[in-house]
Amino acid sequence: MKNVHSRSPPWSDALPTLHVITPTYRRPVQKAELTRLTNTLLHVPNLHWLVVEDAAERTALVSRLLENTGLNYTHLNIETPQNLTALKEPRNERIPVGTMQRNLALRWLRENINPSSGHKGVVYFADDDNTYSLELFEEMRWTRKASVWPVAFVGGLRYESPKINSQGKVFGWRTVFDPHRPFAIDMAGFAVNLQLIFSKPQAYFKLKGVKGGYQESSLLQDLITLSDLEPKASNCTKVLVWHTRTESPLLMNEGEKGFTNTSVEV
Ligand code: UGA
Ligand code: MN
Repeated sequence: MKNVHSRSPPWSDALPTLHVITPTYRRPVQKAELTRLTNTLLHVPNLHWLVVEDAAERTALVSRLLENTGLNYTHLNIETPQNLTALKEPRNERIPVGTMQRNLALRWLRENINPSSGHKGVVYFADDDNTYSLELFEEMRWTRKASVWPVAFVGGLRYESPKINSQGKVFGWRTVFDPHRPFAIDMAGFAVNLQLIFSKPQAYFKLKGVKGGYQESSLLQDLITLSDLEPKASNCTKVLVWHTRTESPLLMNEGEKGFTNTSVEV
């Protein structure tokens, strides 16, 4: 039977494509997170979802989920080596999470899209556990170089935001945690034009020697300067994305061997 109830969002050649990069890893709430994000992305036209599993193999769970979404997606995987994750060091000494996964997706875009094809695109890093308004995706769609906006629930604040002057330019960062970082912004707070990614082929998130909170700067410093930033969300006065974090479920009643049927996918 023909699939007359396709859930694929509409496609228009007039609109730039949003390349949304999501690192993800196996844990009890993974399917729930990806389901919630799917339900958001299904409302967004011209979207390409790059889902990168932090795993040695692409899992059946994520493969099936993606197939069933009807979204336009690319499914990749790369496992963060144990020696990078298992460090029993303070958070700001260890490697940031999702880094190798985001870098693999950047490489995929550079290797699989022809820069001279006239393809218009924007790249956004969307972690699997945040909450995204639909407005956010339209705010970022016409990014020329790099767009920025506030992010709620980061840095111990209701929200962090770029500071905007009377000319509508970014001149600093309204954060408590280290506002003198080159780009004191969470991963969820910016998007960059794909042509910029093509034009700086060496630009990646740094893996080593990156202090906590400097991961975003480690990429953005290679791509742009402060004066390139385009404030969105009504000059950074609106919150359109929330750094929500999902509580890990308590599973103590599963016991050693497991109480529930392990053949049921959760
Ligand atoms: C904060 C930032 O918002 C992240 O962008 C940043 O990567 C992270 O800190 C960091 O410490 O590096 P936070 O909520 O603490 O986010 O991090 P997670 O949501 O747990 O992880 C960020 C992304 O990486 C998620 O999409 C998650 O699924 C993925 N991840 C996490 C992995 O791929 N592997 C892991 O081992 C852990
Ligand atoms: Mn998170």
